This record gives sequence, structure tokens and C-alpha cells, in this order.
Amino acid sequence: MIRDISLAPKGQLKIDWVAQHMPILNQLKKDFEKRKPLAGKRVIICLHLEAKTAYLALTVKAAGAEVAVCGSNPLSTQDDVVAALVQNGVTAYAWYGATDEEYKMHLNKALDFQPDILIDDGGDLVATLHAERPEQAKKIVGGAEETTTGILRLKALAKEGHLSFPMMAVNDAQMKYLFDNRYGTGQSVWDAIMRTTNLVVCGKVVVVGGYGWCGKGVAARARGLNARIVVTEIDPVKANEALMDGFEVMPMVEAAKIGDVFVTVTGNRDIVRREHLEVIKDKAILCNAGHFDVEVNKEDLRALSTSVRIARNNIEEYTFRDGRKVYLLGEGRLVNLACGDGHPAEVMDLTFALQAMSLEYVFTNREQLEPKVYPVPEEIDRKIAQLRLQALGVSIDELTEVQSKYLNSWQE
Ligand SMILES: NC(=O)c1ccc[n+]([C@@H]2O[C@H](COP(=O)([O-])OP(=O)(O)OC[C@H]3O[C@@H](n4cnc5c(N)ncnc54)[C@H](O)[C@@H]3O)[C@@H](O)[C@H]2O)c1
Repeated sequence: MIRDISLAPKGQLKIDWVAQHMPILNQLKKDFEKRKPLAGKRVIICLHLEAKTAYLALTVKAAGAEVAVCGSNPLSTQDDVVAALVQNGVTAYAWYGATDEEYKMHLNKALDFQPDILIDDGGDLVATLHAERPEQAKKIVGGAEETTTGILRLKALAKEGHLSFPMMAVNDAQMKYLFDNRYGTGQSVWDAIMRTTNLVVCGKVVVVGGYGWCGKGVAARARGLNARIVVTEIDPVKANEALMDGFEVMPMVEAAKIGDVFVTVTGNRDIVRREHLEVIKDKAILCNAGHFDVEVNKEDLRALSTSVRIARNNIEEYTFRDGRKVYLLGEGRLVNLACGDGHPAEVMDLTFALQAMSLEYVFTNREQLEPKVYPVPEEIDRKIAQLRLQALGVSIDELTEVQSKYLNSWQE
């Protein structure tokens, strides 16, 4: 169920390019080809369907699995990449710009594929299974979740006692959030904003909503672009961290009056809402990098506007009654994926190596694992860290015996 199979050669080039820059996944793929740890199993991958994800799908296929993919966001699917995947023997249910109904249909069609194992990003696939297909949910061996928002939803489901199978919290592995959320989001958000607007960043006031792992990356890269940065937070510890990192901190209602570019990345909703829009600076650019398109309240935007038009590809221009304009990028969806290619390949190499190894882990340990949210085992995290250093040709020191003893003793 895809847009156009004739786009496959263009998509294949994109996959080939990232494959050259994902050394850990290359190594895992070779190993999987030999061992076939998922032989005969069915796997669904629900992620942003661009080239790096495609290479993950091919890696999982190399493990002997039959693989189907569906998108985790209607605006992040690249039709050429999906076409190439189909030519590589992967089943696909996704196209760019799917309506809400089409998006849900794609998730359901993917579930009709009767997976044993799954990868989810944001929790829509797992939520559909539990809300609409509880009998099928009981047959799932396990899976892995990609992002902060998805893990929050899984934990809520588990707390209510309804989670039917074990899920690995890939986002919470160190080799994920320290690099993907921070450096990946940091770089790709600015790539997307700059290519979409073709405007300058230096000297502008950039307001970053949320100083978590992603927000830190977005703010750090904005500093590198010579922006003046304001952070908004609700957590006093994070607010202190932002202050000590050298940023201004204030409530959104104050920031709204001075900000030129707003990036929300909290995993929460209504970070920019009516009371902020009422005082927002003319020609402010709004975008979101959090998982769902609820961080900028689009209903409030529409309610305050006399007209809305497409000002440029991926930019909606809202004109308010008093003549002020604000611009919303990528419909308020994850800007780095809706208006760009997502994280750099080298970063996704780490995340997707964690995904591939977590799938094997959940399948191999299926008899012991309960229907809970599990952290990725430390051995997997460290293994990926070592493989990355190896790929870069970087060596590090090893503890001497004396040092090791010293660290493990309480006597002088
Ligand atoms: N765009 C991407 O490619 C990408 C990559 C990874 C994660 N994500 C998503 O980004 C979001 C954030 O992820 P994270 O890993 O940074 O999470 P995090 O939990 O580390 O950080 C979120 C921060 O937002 C703050 N926050 C919550 N409500 C707020 C409010 N009303 N105002 C201001 N701050 C508020 C929290 O205190 C926290 O510090 C999630 O939805 C996650 O799924 C996106």
C-alpha cells in the first residue's frame, strides 16, 4: 500500500548513501545474515519511513524475519524510500501526507500482517493493538519503543495493568538519548528550519520550549548559529541547568513577546497557546520537535486568525485580526522530519543498532520476560559504544588491576 513503485531507484540511492555511514548496523547486518536469529518471525516496524529506517528494516530482514513497515507520522514518510523497500522484499503500508483515516488504516493493515515482534515510535501501534485488538496483543512476543513520548504511554499502560507483552525502552539507553535526542535533534531541527525558511538564525531570539535531552541539543546548536537563546521550563532543576549553561530562562508568556523563532520539544501539549499567541511578536516562526503535533495549539492559532495561506513549501502563514502574522512550519509536526530528513545517519546508526539488538534480546529471552517496560541491558549499551569507537578508530584506556581494586574497596 504505497504511493508509486516507480520511485524506487531514487529511494534506493538514499538508502545506499546512509548505509555507507552506518558502520554498526552494517556489522550487525552481516552477523544477522550468518546467524538468522529471527528466522521465520514476522516483524512490524512503525517508524519515520526515511532512508535510515529503511536500512534498519533491511537489517531486521537479514536476521531472517519477514518485515512490514508503516509510518509513525503522516508527514515523515518518503515515498521513494518506501518504494525501494518494497523492491527489497519488505511489505509497506504508508505514503506521505496520509490523512488521519489513512494513517490509522496503515497501522491496522500492518497489524493484519500478524507480527510476532514490533518496533513502535510514539506508541500509536501499541495503543491501537491494546485498544482495538486486545486478542492479537496477547499473541505478540515483544517489542521495542523508540522515543520518550512512547515510553511515557507504555508506562501508563503498564501502570493500569493492561500492557500485554514486554517492551524495551530503547529511548532510555544512554547510547540513544545522549546522542540521538541531543545531537541528532539539535542538528536536524536547525537543518529543517533553515532549509524551509531560507532565513538567517544569527542574532535572532530563539525560544526553546523544554530543556530535556532534545531541548539541550536544540539550544546548543542555536548557540553555535549565534542566536540569542531563551529557555522555558516547568522543572526547576532543568531551569537551573539552562541558566548555568548560559541561557535566559523565563515563562512562555514573556518569551512570546521577544522570540523570533520558537521550537517546542517537551512531549507535553499547549506549550504555545492562546495567551502566548495574543502577545507574540509579529512574523514569529513557530515549530515543534516534540513527538506529537500538540505542542503548538493549532486550534488557538486558527481561532485568532482571519486568514491562513501557504506562504512557502511547509510554511503556513496565519494572519491575526490586528495584522500580525505568525508562521507555522510543517503543520506543527516534528519539524526535523516533516521539513527535513531527520537525524544524521551516524546518529541513527546508534539508535537503530540498539533497536536491532533489542529485538533479538526480547525474542531470545521471551520465556523470561514479563509484560513490562524493560530497560535496554547495559551490555547492549556498552557494546554499541565500543563498536562506535572501533568504527571511528578511537581507543581508550583500560583500568589497571590496582585501579580496579581501588574503585571497588572502601579502605584506603
Ligand atoms: N524530533 C525528534 O527527532 C525527536 C527525537 C527524540 C525525541 N523526540 C520527542 O521530543 C520530546 C522531548 O523528548 P526529550 O527526550 O527531550 O524529553 P525529556 O523528558 O528529556 O525533556 C522534556 C522537557 O520538557 C519539559 N516540559 C514539560 N512540560 C513543559 C512545559 N509546559 N513547558 C516547558 N517545559 C516543559 C520537561 O520538564 C523536560 O525537561 C518527546 O515528545 C520525544 O518523544 C523528538
